[in-house]
Amino acid sequence: MQEEKRQIEVIRERFGTEFERFVNFRKEEFGDLTLAAAERLKKELEDLRVKHTGKKSPLSGAKRLIGKIAPENRAEFGKFVQKISGEIESALDEAEDRLGNYILKTRTERETIDVTLPGRRPQPGHLHPITLLRQRIEDIFVSMGYAIEDDREIETDYYNFDALNIPEHHPARESQDTFYTTGGFALRSQTSTVQIRAMERRGVPIRIIAPGRVFRRDTPDQTHTPMFHQIEGLCVDKGINMSHLKGTVTEWLRRMYGKETKTRFRPSYFPFTEPSAEFDFSCFKCDGTGEFEGDKCGTCRGSGWIELGGCGMVHPNVLENCGVDHKVYSGFAFGFGLERMCALMYSLDDIRLMFENDVRFLKQFH
Ligand code: DAH
Repeated sequence: MQEEKRQIEVIRERFGTEFERFVNFRKEEFGDLTLAAAERLKKELEDLRVKHTGKKSPLSGAKRLIGKIAPENRAEFGKFVQKISGEIESALDEAEDRLGNYILKTRTERETIDVTLPGRRPQPGHLHPITLLRQRIEDIFVSMGYAIEDDREIETDYYNFDALNIPEHHPARESQDTFYTTGGFALRSQTSTVQIRAMERRGVPIRIIAPGRVFRRDTPDQTHTPMFHQIEGLCVDKGINMSHLKGTVTEWLRRMYGKETKTRFRPSYFPFTEPSAEFDFSCFKCDGTGEFEGDKCGTCRGSGWIELGGCGMVHPNVLENCGVDHKVYSGFAFGFGLERMCALMYSLDDIRLMFENDVRFLKQFH
């Protein structure tokens, strides 16, 4: 029987060695055990239980020995086996139980939600300053009966230049001013191209504005970017004359900058209009006085006027290019850039800010 007892001692020792790393758990000492590590150890502990107490374990083998022991020693041996087996079982039970609790507690803590914390506000996006300005202008023209026309940014020479009566030698056609694609197309350098497209598509009478991107081979600086935005206006009907142009532009600018806003039209030249003019409006900062708070107004540089765009009566050649009889119909057109207007309104000293996508800049324009 001594031999058998020794075998049981060996079983206990082997279990002890393998159980070593779980011993502390019985005392609920877990250190900084992570949840994942605890879950893994629990699994290993379960494997250990199978190995040492399962049907094929040496301990089960020892229990089967009890019957083979001489009757006078059997009770003592049986008790001994039971004692060892009980020790092993309760070591496993305790470690497993405490580890299980630890896992549960850690998981619950991790998943706890503090319902008293303020919610995270969703950050709604907002529009770009150029879009805001464009929409304001669109609203005014729509209220005056204009439709909004959108068209392509890549154009043929015909729409970019020829149809607009821009002659062969005109500098705008030069490759140093315009972006050409390899296929003989050009990125439109002005939204005036939409005048042609719109008249071809809609015929006359017509009243449209066409906002959009335009492209020029400019080196970026404070007042230039190779891509910028323009809005084009076109009104063609019977009996349209210069006073309609002046009235329309003035009404629009009054609605933008206040009833007192004045406009000024200076003779100029554009190939697609005759006569042509450039239009200015009285400075919204100094009310056209050129002085602001005792100093030269910074917005209009003391002139009292802000130069905005070009305009004129649509050239007969342009009307004819679109199949419109210039003896029956006449019209006016105008065009201006949005970046400069926007920069003046928000006192920006560099229009490149608008395309850098720096959120600190953009989020100021709610
Ligand atoms: N397309 C011109 C430019 O980009 C602006 C312009 C001038 C548009 C006169 C017009 C116009 O419609 O009539 O500088």
